[in-house]
Amino acid sequence: MRQFTEDTLTDEVVARLKGVKHSRLKQLMTSLVRHLHAFAQDVKLTEEEWFEAIKFLTAVGQKCDGKRQEFILLSDVLGLSMMTVAINHKTDPGATEATVLGPFFAHGAKEFGYGGDLREGATMSGEDVWVSGRVTSVDGKPIPGAVLDIWQAKADGIYDLQTDGEFELRGRVRANDKGEYAFKSYKPKFYSIPMDGPVGDLVRSTTNNHMRPAHMHAIVSAPGHQQVITHVFVDGDPYLDGDAVFAVKNSLIAKYKKLGEAEARKVGLPAGSFKLEFDFKLSADKAGAKKARKKIAASDAVA
Ligand code: BEZ
Ligand code: FE
Repeated sequence: MRQFTEDTLTDEVVARLKGVKHSRLKQLMTSLVRHLHAFAQDVKLTEEEWFEAIKFLTAVGQKCDGKRQEFILLSDVLGLSMMTVAINHKTDPGATEATVLGPFFAHGAKEFGYGGDLREGATMSGEDVWVSGRVTSVDGKPIPGAVLDIWQAKADGIYDLQTDGEFELRGRVRANDKGEYAFKSYKPKFYSIPMDGPVGDLVRSTTNNHMRPAHMHAIVSAPGHQQVITHVFVDGDPYLDGDAVFAVKNSLIAKYKKLGEAEARKVGLPAGSFKLEFDFKLSADKAGAKKARKKIAASDAVA
């Protein structure tokens, strides 16, 4: 066939995929073509709109560099990131729930032991907090030596990767031999997703929902266990119900309480500082489990 109509084109594009050897690629491409064509027909896509979309995606690509991942941001605000997490990460009962990675994870952060100070070298101060807890398996057995990759925004709601500065409020914290971890940091604040790019323009002209509730990010890894990519949110935050990227889970909301005077002295923080206690529970790595989330590897780095 050489000539197609609106009614025959989709089937022909799909038919030309018949020789694709990789069966999953064939399935993905077939479904993508069918959904894209159905979308165009549903909205009666004009040529001007088609070209606007091309220009938009070009701008998204041009905004990406070693520190900025505008495509992840686009996926996040469209809910595609959380849909992918939901499909792929059906948490075992009792295990810490997963949520979005976001665009600001970076490899190569400094390593800290129990009680390490992630405020080291910070260019901006905030409300001091002692963060502590345990990393255990779902049945409560401590996981000695588990590693927590932690990152969070500065007090102005900007991540270190959004500036030309050094790493800040970011570290790899290793749990001790009882599976206990602790570190000093600043209490996170709510912030706006980056609005200075094409995704920001899209958000402004559609929902204008651009705030993220305060949170710290954590990737918790240990041999023999499924890695969890997650957040810990601040209880009482005004944006918990309107997260720009749909990432909130009730089980990940925790209370920041005030440290008592003696407690503050003991951990070396000023009176009036906060404490956050949060335990991470990891599922066992099931041999051959296809559904386990892919571990963060060097190739996933944005920086
Ligand atoms: C973040 O939490 O760092 C984030 C996630 C999605 C979009 C923007 C920021
Ligand atoms: Fe964040």
